[in-house]
Amino acid sequence: MDKLIIEASRPLRGVVKVDGAKNSVLPIMAAALLTHDMCTVYDVPDLSDAAVMEEILNHLGAHTAWNKAERKVEIRADKSIKTDAPYELVSRMRASFLITGPLLARLGFASIPLPGGCAIGARPIELHLKGFAAMGAQIVKEHGFVSICAKRGLVGAKIYLDFPSVGATENIMMAATLAEGQTIIENCAVEPEIVDLANFLNAIGGDVRGAGTDTIKINGVRELRGAQHTIIPDRIEAGTFMVAAALTGGDITVENVVWDHLKPVTAKLIEAGAMVEQTDAGLRVWQGARQNVRPLDVKTLPYPGFPTDMQSQFMALLTIAEGTSIVTETVFENRFMHVGELKRMGANIKIEGRSAIIEGTRKLMGASVRASDLRAGAALVLAGLVAEGTTELTDVYHLERGYCGFLEKLSRLGAKLEAR
Ligand code: UD1
Repeated sequence: MDKLIIEASRPLRGVVKVDGAKNSVLPIMAAALLTHDMCTVYDVPDLSDAAVMEEILNHLGAHTAWNKAERKVEIRADKSIKTDAPYELVSRMRASFLITGPLLARLGFASIPLPGGCAIGARPIELHLKGFAAMGAQIVKEHGFVSICAKRGLVGAKIYLDFPSVGATENIMMAATLAEGQTIIENCAVEPEIVDLANFLNAIGGDVRGAGTDTIKINGVRELRGAQHTIIPDRIEAGTFMVAAALTGGDITVENVVWDHLKPVTAKLIEAGAMVEQTDAGLRVWQGARQNVRPLDVKTLPYPGFPTDMQSQFMALLTIAEGTSIVTETVFENRFMHVGELKRMGANIKIEGRSAIIEGTRKLMGASVRASDLRAGAALVLAGLVAEGTTELTDVYHLERGYCGFLEKLSRLGAKLEAR
């Protein structure tokens, strides 16, 4: 799919089922490298990012079998596993860096191209490396690669993260599972995906305690074994459909959600005038009319704060609010690339430092716009549904990285869109 053509649509109505979480499946697939045994992962979303992770695992020598109909991936890293990942694969996805923790733990070495910056910020990795170094690894950066070496194995350490980075918490947690002694990660991330990874690590025989709090303790074990694990539902996909209901003045029941994971999104939608109700199968979001959206102040923060991955979708919603909203991005330094595109659709948005000031407008207009990243793409699709006329979205491959069957799911809810 090269382009997405989106037409002004009627309010979206119906039921949508959320897939497994992208941000859980990536570290969990990487963590399967920690054992020789077979790991079976269920509720794996059919996403291009998960396919890249599968390719990387295959490159390293692991066998994988992905049954898409059953949403199941089997991974067995029983042979001799390579310790280097090629630039062609790693450059396609930043989360590839998550293989370093497991490789280091199992083989004492990992060599990987340094991830560059991306559309939403510089995205350094020094917190990951600081953690590995504290556990005794030597780190050498040359020719665009970073080599991490712990020939005599990793040793447990006390690590304080300057920022509760999701990726650094995951990588250090994975590295520590086979380290000698205890590792304590302080000021770590508390996202639900961290808890999901910890549950997987414990299922394969690890000893990880405290995930979901700001201190995680990992007691190193000698060996890990295979296990079966089901991925948690994707809270960002759920949140995106919740915003779609509010923005179009529709009524959507979102199934396969964990209510608790959606608290900040739910609170802000209610503040914006939407109704949100817990149902037996998930939750229902409805908004009387799209003209009733109230303005908001939104500030992105690490979990349990408002997720940065929902910032652009909320911005699309606030472009049609009755009044002035302020959206402040504190997690990534450059996550306003969608602003220029929304402005091309008639939105009134001004950026001041890390904040965007949005003056609600009565109507958006269809335009040719470009998805600069995954969530920006989702925001532009949502905006296109309420814009007058036709919106043509390019660089839609970003959507396939993180939304499983997005087009089909939206169409079933009544959205008028077509892939070209
Ligand atoms: C993960 C998610 C991504 C989400 C983000 C924040 C995955 C695959 N991706 O990304 O969808 O938007 O969490 O919730 O799970 N930082 C440093 N040094 C480091 C590491 C991070 O300064 O060594 C900074 C980053 O530049 C960024 C902030 O910390 O400004 C948050 O990054 P981090 O939590 O690490 O995000 P990711 O794990 O990359």
